[in-house]
Amino acid sequence: MDEIQTLYPEAYRICQQFAIDQNRMEEIIHRMTREMTMGLAKDTHPRATMKCFVTYVQDLPTGRERGNYLALDLGGTNFRVLLVNLESESTVHIDGQTYGISKSVMEGPGIKLFDFIAQCLSDFCKDHKLESANLPLGFTFSFPCKQVGIDNGTLVAWTKGFKSEGVVNKNVVELLRDAIARRGDLKVKVVAILNDTTGTLMSCAFHKPNCKIGMIVGTGSNACYVEKTSNVEMLPGYQTSQKPYMIINCEWGAFGDNGVLDFIRTRYDIEVDNFSINPKKQVYEKCISGMYMGELVRNIIVELMDKDVLFKGVKSKGLHERGKFETRFITEIESDEPGRFRNAAMVMDSLGIRTSNEKDLMCLRYICETVSTRSAKLAACGLVCLIRKMNVKDLSVGIDGSVYRFHPHYHRLLMENMNLLLNGTVRYELVLSEDGSGRGAALIAAVCARD
Ligand code: GLC
Repeated sequence: MDEIQTLYPEAYRICQQFAIDQNRMEEIIHRMTREMTMGLAKDTHPRATMKCFVTYVQDLPTGRERGNYLALDLGGTNFRVLLVNLESESTVHIDGQTYGISKSVMEGPGIKLFDFIAQCLSDFCKDHKLESANLPLGFTFSFPCKQVGIDNGTLVAWTKGFKSEGVVNKNVVELLRDAIARRGDLKVKVVAILNDTTGTLMSCAFHKPNCKIGMIVGTGSNACYVEKTSNVEMLPGYQTSQKPYMIINCEWGAFGDNGVLDFIRTRYDIEVDNFSINPKKQVYEKCISGMYMGELVRNIIVELMDKDVLFKGVKSKGLHERGKFETRFITEIESDEPGRFRNAAMVMDSLGIRTSNEKDLMCLRYICETVSTRSAKLAACGLVCLIRKMNVKDLSVGIDGSVYRFHPHYHRLLMENMNLLLNGTVRYELVLSEDGSGRGAALIAAVCARD
């Protein structure tokens, strides 16, 4: 780090703007707690940025759920259809198929999107001879939805790269059922709609009964947690509900949309936001998740190249193009052994910058670390906020998403920062949740079938 300061003072100065000290972390937690409280309460919910949606999932799995279920997973870079067989507590078979979603489907008319989903489901069922099996299906739909029941969710806004028209304000379960009915070649029971965070929590809770949070750090970022039903004012009859708990989908990506995070945002964040498909929305998510981390790094590099500080004399048009620096490059660059820059050189080579200048590559790695460290710090603040809100002293956190899964230091960074904030007061474990969107959807479908 000292070396960066001496050799690349300009880069160092930029990266300093991304630093968040403990006081600021506490301030972030404080502000997030306030926004959550607003989301949960009936009076303030309409103007809350963090909506804290009721999921209608009130039972955690017991580990005794069995049977065959279908799951659909929409919300990341790919769409998936899965057949989940819960055979025993230790044996779960998942057979799945991934389908790429074209930009025209992601950004075109809603009917086209749902016809595409139904088509994939139908192809999958035919391949598996399940067209008339009438299996229960859980729909993992990873966008903010206002639910009025386990199988009824109205899309509030698209996030991440989606902007399919005519879906916002519609019940997406109905859109799915209609699309299946239009085809008329398949019998399935759509029994539940869920967020990927909820699936992640359920999937983790199948093995760890003390799992109380599900978090995603992937294309987007979000978390859900277990709240006391008596605090869930948005649930009709919450005071007299028989079931003590409710999973709440925080939709924390939208934290900061009212300006409360401006004190930590940099001009690079503002630049990334300006050119995004949803400017001024999902502010916290844009500081944390995979869809934006690469772009933050790219903006910093380009500025330093334009100032002739980094990769001197090398011209790369490629890097000036938006989206060219993918978040997986950060993962690759940070996976180099200390003092080695093999991946870093390869990544830059693939972007048309051929260099063996190790000092420059060291600076590049420092920029990547800056962005990923800030992401992990912010995610740690979110987790600590939820842990304090629940006032629990012992829990597991189920986590999924490409950034958490593949970044070589993310898990450690999360823990270091949580330890700093929790200061030994809570026993917690961060668990990689295996395929929450598939397995979790099946578990919810199973729990629904049980009732
Ligand atoms: C976005 C979505 C949210 C989802 C998250 C992770 O923030 O709005 O519903 O959980 O991405 O996929």
